[in-house]
Amino acid sequence: MIHWHCHDLYQRLPTGGCAGGIAVVIDVLRASTTMITALAHRANGVLPVADVEEARRLAWEGGPAALLGGERGGVRIAGFALGNSPLEYSAARVAGRTIVITTTNGTAALAAARGAREILVGAIVNRTAVAEAIHRLAGADEDVHLVCAGTDGRVSPEDVLAAGAILEAASAAGSDDVLDEPAREARAFFRRVAASGDVPAALVAEFHRSPGGANLVDLGMQADLPACAAIDSLPIVPRLDRATGHLKA
Ligand code: MLT
Repeated sequence: MIHWHCHDLYQRLPTGGCAGGIAVVIDVLRASTTMITALAHRANGVLPVADVEEARRLAWEGGPAALLGGERGGVRIAGFALGNSPLEYSAARVAGRTIVITTTNGTAALAAARGAREILVGAIVNRTAVAEAIHRLAGADEDVHLVCAGTDGRVSPEDVLAAGAILEAASAAGSDDVLDEPAREARAFFRRVAASGDVPAALVAEFHRSPGGANLVDLGMQADLPACAAIDSLPIVPRLDRATGHLKA
């Protein structure tokens, strides 16, 4: 049996909160979506790093195969090849490369989940693939933590929606899983939004109401919103390789 827990903000995770379980780290706008896109476009791996200087150092050590990506305040970091828009992570740019990436919230949320026995990256674009991966990886009695990155310490509705979308896909598989109260609320939120029929359009409308979405619109990056709302478009589940610290497909 799987016990699902939804954490609306990674900063609220109790110390060791994911210990021994499976964690799915969610930052829909945009770190999760971008990492998934990079691996879908055949990047060799994605190395998430919390700190900008550390990212520069690791990219230098990685040699010509390494490519620096990331943002602060939503904007590409000076000297980095790529920002944090999934649209930048085309096969032409990333195939065969190792992406060293640092973002404001997403890579910090990944670090906060490190006590988990397995760490996956989830978003709207891979929600069914995540639900399937969890059912494959889960033991007989497993705790699964959906860890939302949020935006600068505030809950991001799009992350909670992605948690709900994963839970909806998991329940469509007909399992007898147990959901905690925040997980039930996240699934109900997703169901309300999806009820309109045109799910990507309804998700984009929600993104416009969120602080992270509004920030992207202000920066002129509104084209990222439909890319991040393209439900089940990228059936790739990044999984942390503990030996190397890289996310691999
Ligand atoms: C983050 O990790 O903080 C976000 O993905 C921010 C962004 O892309 O603007």
